[in-house]
Amino acid sequence: METFYVTTPIYYVNAKPHLGHAYTTIMADALNRFHRLMGRQTFFLTGTDEHGDKIVKAAEENGQSPQEYVDNISKLFRDLCPRLGVEHSAFIRTTDPKHIECVQAILQKVYDNGDIYFGEYGGHYCFGCERFYTEKELVGGLCPDHLTKPEYISEKNYFFRMSKYQAWLLEHINRNPEFIRPEGYRREVLSLLESGALEDLCISRPKSRLTWGIELPFDRDFVCYVWFDALINYISALGYPKGEKFKKFWPSANHLVAKDILKPHAVFWPTMLRAAGIEPYQRLNVHGYWLVKDTKMSKSLGNVVEPMALIERYGLAAFRYFLLRDMTLGQDSGFSEEALVNRFNADLANDLGNLFNRTLSMTHKYFKGQVPVPGDEDLADAEIKKLGQEAMRVYQEEFAELRFSRALESLWTLVRGLNKFIDSSAPWALFKAKKRARLGTVIYILLEHLRKVAVHLWPVMPGACGEMLAQLGISFDPLKVDLLKEHDVWGLLEPGTGVAESSNLFPRIEVPEVPASGQTLAGERKAPARPLKAAPAAGLEFEDFQKLDLRVGLVVSARRHPDADKLLLVDVDLGEERPRQVVAGLAGFFEPEDLAGRRVVVVANLKPRKIRKEISQGMILAVHSGQAMDLLTVGGRPAAGSRVS
Ligand code: ME8
Ligand code: MG
Repeated sequence: METFYVTTPIYYVNAKPHLGHAYTTIMADALNRFHRLMGRQTFFLTGTDEHGDKIVKAAEENGQSPQEYVDNISKLFRDLCPRLGVEHSAFIRTTDPKHIECVQAILQKVYDNGDIYFGEYGGHYCFGCERFYTEKELVGGLCPDHLTKPEYISEKNYFFRMSKYQAWLLEHINRNPEFIRPEGYRREVLSLLESGALEDLCISRPKSRLTWGIELPFDRDFVCYVWFDALINYISALGYPKGEKFKKFWPSANHLVAKDILKPHAVFWPTMLRAAGIEPYQRLNVHGYWLVKDTKMSKSLGNVVEPMALIERYGLAAFRYFLLRDMTLGQDSGFSEEALVNRFNADLANDLGNLFNRTLSMTHKYFKGQVPVPGDEDLADAEIKKLGQEAMRVYQEEFAELRFSRALESLWTLVRGLNKFIDSSAPWALFKAKKRARLGTVIYILLEHLRKVAVHLWPVMPGACGEMLAQLGISFDPLKVDLLKEHDVWGLLEPGTGVAESSNLFPRIEVPEVPASGQTLAGERKAPARPLKAAPAAGLEFEDFQKLDLRVGLVVSARRHPDADKLLLVDVDLGEERPRQVVAGLAGFFEPEDLAGRRVVVVANLKPRKIRKEISQGMILAVHSGQAMDLLTVGGRPAAGSRVS
């Protein structure tokens, strides 16, 4: 049996998972499901990367020990999987004893082969990336990914003779055009290898600086560099060297990563494997970034979108469909909630949802809810079947190449074709004219095609498609499907099968009047799906009013401004990572300690400005009448950060 092995990056546990992580993991899940339907034996690995400087820093900031901290965050990543509809075969942690053992075995092997040596090195170290950068790689002196200034570090360390494998790697990539895809990234790696000498890779950290790592088996005063440790997860999880799974799945290894970690995967990893005497992976698949307002969504930039907030609001099917439909492999894609809603309404609510619901209700109206017996086919039938075959053939081809967007587009030529087929064959007229045989054929063609569509879409939306098939009276077993044959076979849906009366799997989403921006979804707080309409103020355009972001804030504490006696510095929780400081002219009216614990209304999107040398990030609304000052507040106990509308 053919095998397919798919991996996601193992994510750093220095922050909670965000949309970017959810994306790669969902993509891996969809691909894994697809290959299962194509009859392959599959293995799907995801997990967490838990060693290194930045994990220690994050743990310290949280007042926890590294172990406590990594246990907590790793669990968040693991628990997110089922909520994303993700079914992995294994979840690896680099703190697993089996992984540690495997890393040490490989270090020893490469050391014994003479490819690890001791030396001195100085370089620009980015803690965010956990790697050294060469002068040339920096952008204006800053890390190209985090836009922060790297630290210059010089110390004695162990080095992996990566340079020795430069020629081999160059040849390997030239000989295997499929090794890295899409082509743009393959060329990027080639030009990196062609443009100059590959340096050796520093693979240790002295324990005097870092102890949270895997000890070098040949020198206990050092721990292993986190990337050398992390990359090995892809084989330690398969039980390398002796594991059956390693033998079975490694030859079909497909890594999925975003372009931020292209070099470690395209250069460090294959040369490490080579030095350890292991065959290279089969393929590296590189995707672009999800952007928020033209900037990469990232935890270090603090502009992340919470996947669960979107799933709770729009459902898992909408979320997965959107992610796979709206990104082209290799390219960046702008994320916005409006785009998600529009995509869902157009493709799922309108095209597919309507088609399915219409077909089910006609089956009930004309055939008592039972799949009719098809009669002779005419020209239009042959045409739609041909359209379907072609759409599904292209779908499978594109899907296998990770061009999900094009795959789905192709399948939608069928979905739209079927909607037209209803209109042109006019079942209602056939019913009136008592042409039962013809009517049966038309309905059968629709139902059988919908079965095929649901099977094809199952990797993208497993839950919704499982339900769709159940509504067609089919108990779906993915292991019994042969997707490859699916575009050819006809007539698997048995006449006489009872189908559901109607279906509302993809109810239309009203576009929010005030579309919640990416920022609204950052953090755990929820904004109402449909904010209330505001009464237009005379002269003010509604659009302008919409620009105002009013939030419920919870005062954490307040103190006097060091050199302005009318001002207080108020720390207000707006449901964000940390409270904001607002400078407010409340000093004559309130004692600082009176304010703590009060719910206030804050203008949240004012540009931060300095007021008497103190930063103010917002404005607290109040009514000033004569001698009194009253704070605007809200009844009930809405969560900090709730939108006021
Ligand atoms: O790099 N758009 O972990 P990491 C799309 N531990 N995908 C995104 C994204 C975005 N804006 N942001 C993150 C590490 N990702 C290492 C990997 S592997 C042996 C070690 C996804 O937590 C994408 O898959 O920084 C990216 O490559 C990965 O998260 C980086 O995760
Ligand atoms: Mg990163």
